[in-house]
Amino acid sequence: MSISSLKGGVGKTSVTLGLASAALAAGIPTLVVDLDPHADASTGLGVEPNGENDIGHLLKNARRADIAAAAVPSPWAGRSGAAADGQTPVLDVAVGGAFSGIYDRPDLKLRNLRRLHTVLSRQNRYELVLIDCPPSLNGLTRMAWTASHRVLLVAEPSLFSVAGTERTLRALELFRKEFVQGLQTAGVVANRFRESSAEQRFRLEEMRTMFGDALLSPVLPDQANWQQIQGAAYAVHQWPGDAARQSAARFDELLHGLADPASAGVR
Ligand SMILES: Nc1ncnc2c1ncn2[C@@H]1O[C@H](COP(=O)(O)OP(=O)(O)OP(=O)(O)O)[C@@H](O)[C@H]1O
Ligand SMILES: [Mg+2]
Repeated sequence: MSISSLKGGVGKTSVTLGLASAALAAGIPTLVVDLDPHADASTGLGVEPNGENDIGHLLKNARRADIAAAAVPSPWAGRSGAAADGQTPVLDVAVGGAFSGIYDRPDLKLRNLRRLHTVLSRQNRYELVLIDCPPSLNGLTRMAWTASHRVLLVAEPSLFSVAGTERTLRALELFRKEFVQGLQTAGVVANRFRESSAEQRFRLEEMRTMFGDALLSPVLPDQANWQQIQGAAYAVHQWPGDAARQSAARFDELLHGLADPASAGVR
């Protein structure tokens, strides 16, 4: 699943990390592919740049790349305790880095668009692969979509973000027709909602009208300690306090809804 938005800073990486945390808590073997050259997801998952084994180099050598060997276990997994079978649960990161930027061009040809698909198609270690995309529709996001079954869009309840989401949905529709017929829209997550703001309440209603069932539940509120949790490179499920517990429960619900075929696959 790709986590995408045209607009920057709306919470793609935060939603990726929240879902990864929920997947870890649920014992789902998960890989996070950090496709943003800024590598924020890698930082949030507590992993260091790993030289020639970053995702950019794996993409360059796509046919020979062994992603399960190159991916790095997140320290989140070590902290979460043993699963029912006594094994440490699997949460690995295909580490991001500036090198992947060589593919973030607007004119990437099909042969290059298929690189991530090629890398992922040979793995059978992970049940869930979350791809954190950069904030553009250039080569890397298109590469992510080519490798995905579904695309999850993230938007803030603000004018520019809602408009950007509409544009992204249209781009996705065109992309589906041209390149990947089976690609589904998993839905739109509204993030950083501030109940106290009349403008945000208005925009959220607008999103409900615009996106209908594609607007996913729950809506994620603006959360005071979110940056502190990310700054410590912690999983929200492992952070103490009521606010983190409520946030973790929201990501559990989101993941559950995404995993349920009845609620997934809004086209
Ligand atoms: N629900 C939230 N509550 C509070 N802060 C949030 C929330 N979601 C995201 N943030 C903060 O907003 C900032 C941007 O979020 P994030 O990095 O997840 O967005 P992004 O879409 O991945 O950005 P980019 O386009 O740069 O990759 C971060 O500092 C993050 O901690
Ligand atoms: Mg990001």
